[in-house]
Amino acid sequence: MSWIREGELTIIERFCANIIKAGPMPKHVAFIMDGNRRYAQKCHVERQQGHSQGFDKLAQTLRWCLNLGIREVTVYAFSIENFKRSKEEVDGLMDLARQKFSRLLEEQESLRKHGVCIRVLGDLPLLPLDIQELIAQAMLATRNYNNDVSESLLDKCLYTNNSPDPDLLIRTSGEVRLSDFLLWQTSHSCLVFQSVLWPEYSFWNLCEAILRFQMNYSALQKARDSYMEERRRQQMEKDQAYVTKKLQQEGFASHGDSRRRRTLLQKCTAMREERIQGFLQALEHKRVDFFERLCTVSA
Ligand code: IPE
Ligand code: IPE
Ligand code: MG
Repeated sequence: MSWIREGELTIIERFCANIIKAGPMPKHVAFIMDGNRRYAQKCHVERQQGHSQGFDKLAQTLRWCLNLGIREVTVYAFSIENFKRSKEEVDGLMDLARQKFSRLLEEQESLRKHGVCIRVLGDLPLLPLDIQELIAQAMLATRNYNNDVSESLLDKCLYTNNSPDPDLLIRTSGEVRLSDFLLWQTSHSCLVFQSVLWPEYSFWNLCEAILRFQMNYSALQKARDSYMEERRRQQMEKDQAYVTKKLQQEGFASHGDSRRRRTLLQKCTAMREERIQGFLQALEHKRVDFFERLCTVSA
């Protein structure tokens, strides 16, 4: 039986899901699944039992997301800080992760056929250290092209680059902080903090979070659009300044000949794209190396 897909929504849940789906839906939802130990304490069960129920809750939540048409989910399962917990707890969590996530991975192929993408993130710094080094080298090599350095380039450097930013981020257990999770990627996401402890998370909690997203939808869209517009404007301004300088070097007046200006602008954009592609390819190789080394060390 499938870990994620077993069990169906009740009639009333299906009915409400259909009402919610009539509004704008988040395409990508991120969860900080917090509160397992408090749940265990509250229910007088072992701490490990709290974590185990937390993992099972993830399976159930993914099923709800699937039913709601949410195709992309990112979860925060373990942070670097969590290594500071007792060895017994860390080992217990790692065992659970191995068991439950290997089941998830087994199902990944069939889920992919439904257009579902699951991303499990631990807590990596924004950029692993040697990738930071590579960027520094690249910046040095391209110091004549500082027009290339932009927020959109930074987006492309992150390990989440092949996925759109989350539309909605949910943290349970009443804690109102991000604990280093997707800091850059959630700057224009709807952040919802709920007091429920993660193992007690319900379909109705998820609906409430989506309703909050829907209530804020137009403000979120507006903020995101004007941010993207500002990015484009800044890049255009930098390119225009570069072209003006070039025209002056060629002996034209600062506004130059308009056809020549257009040609230079197109050339400048094309060359930047080429440099960026080269840089991103080098970065990707470095990233693959980094993760391969990480797997060899932890194997
Ligand atoms: C979240 O629950 C799960 C992990 C961090 C692995 P916690 O273990 O942080 O539980 P609380 O927040 O202490 O209740
Ligand atoms: C954050 O949980 C990470 C996960 C939920 C996996 P913590 O409960 O460890 O976070 P802090 O340290 O209290 O912020
Ligand atoms: Mg916690």
